[in-house]
Amino acid sequence: MDKWITTEELTGYPEITKREAMKALSLCVSGVLKYLDGFTDRFPGPASFDGFYKPGENKGWTTGFYTGELWLAYENAGNESDKKRLLDAANIQVGSFLERIEKLYDVEHHDMGFLYSPSCVAAYKLTGSKEGKKAALLAADKLITRFQPVGEFIQAWGEMGAADNYRFIIDCLLNLPLLYWASEETGDDKYKDIAEKHIHTAMDNVIREDDSTWHTVFMDNVTGKFHHGATCQGYKDGSAWARGQAWGIYGTAVAYKYTGREEYIGYFKRVSGYFLKHLPVDLCPFWDLTFGDGDEATEPRDSSSAVIAACGMLEMSKYMDTADSVYYTGIARKLIKAVYDIYSVKDIDTSNGRILHGTYSKKSPYNTCTPEGVDECVIWGDYYYMEALNRLLNPDWKIYW
Ligand code: GLY
Repeated sequence: MDKWITTEELTGYPEITKREAMKALSLCVSGVLKYLDGFTDRFPGPASFDGFYKPGENKGWTTGFYTGELWLAYENAGNESDKKRLLDAANIQVGSFLERIEKLYDVEHHDMGFLYSPSCVAAYKLTGSKEGKKAALLAADKLITRFQPVGEFIQAWGEMGAADNYRFIIDCLLNLPLLYWASEETGDDKYKDIAEKHIHTAMDNVIREDDSTWHTVFMDNVTGKFHHGATCQGYKDGSAWARGQAWGIYGTAVAYKYTGREEYIGYFKRVSGYFLKHLPVDLCPFWDLTFGDGDEATEPRDSSSAVIAACGMLEMSKYMDTADSVYYTGIARKLIKAVYDIYSVKDIDTSNGRILHGTYSKKSPYNTCTPEGVDECVIWGDYYYMEALNRLLNPDWKIYW
């Protein structure tokens, strides 16, 4: 049996229809509303337990996605009273994000964009929230403190400058829109200058010859050059972690959007091409693209990778020529259709998430990660599923990123 589908086979898959997308998004909004009272001043953790997220505090790198779901639900709610409930809950969460950055609680890492774009930048863009703006600008100030001039990148984690942490990760590309937004709001180019430097370093170093990507790139802290690549959450160093590849797809779209560098369109096609050539027959990637059809008994999927990739393709298709734009929009619609048909929560009594079968961190004999959220809902998967549906239904949507 072949492990992955071919490009020709991909052509024959159905795309999600407008009617299906409307039904799917409306169910997401109902799911958010059903469980809203337990998640207003509390936040879901990164992953569910048997399909149910537990409420917890505003910590870690993932809480912004849930507030992002509240804003997407707010934008798509069917009546004024639901809208008001969602708005009130989202604003309470924005208050929590302001407190978090003011008190510097768990912000010593690079994930300020994941935290503050879908929560506080969204609040500001949608409602003019002063708290949202203040919080997001403080988060941007925090993020630029992680810039390393030797090598020109934003250090992901750990003590600044330590040789064993002198690295960036592919995911960081999605943290950078916060910096472009901060420059636009303040008129100060210091944020976007740093973002642009990081983008160029990432684009130069993260894509491998076969078009797969490194999760983590260690830089030499003396020369500033590529030292070595590694993975934390993928199967092994040289394999392609599915979500890393998906962050690469959305990340190159964002890199192009903000820099306008033509070569990034080519990079986007390479990274997307690798992802698409490593899809199993139902179009939902295994957690690492090493795996494919035949590996179901031992290896879980990561449905979040499919929807992140779809969002990246929908974003990039805004800037491409007609033929490419039609192609990537069509692929995105196929990915979303597969997730909708096979992986989405259809009965909101059975889960408080939106899509099933995500994988946060799976331990392998070769990686260093702590197992968490394997074959569960993951909060960014839920968020990007809603974003993807929303993009399809509202092509002029003002993005939070
Ligand atoms: N940014 C971490 C992850 O995708 O799991």
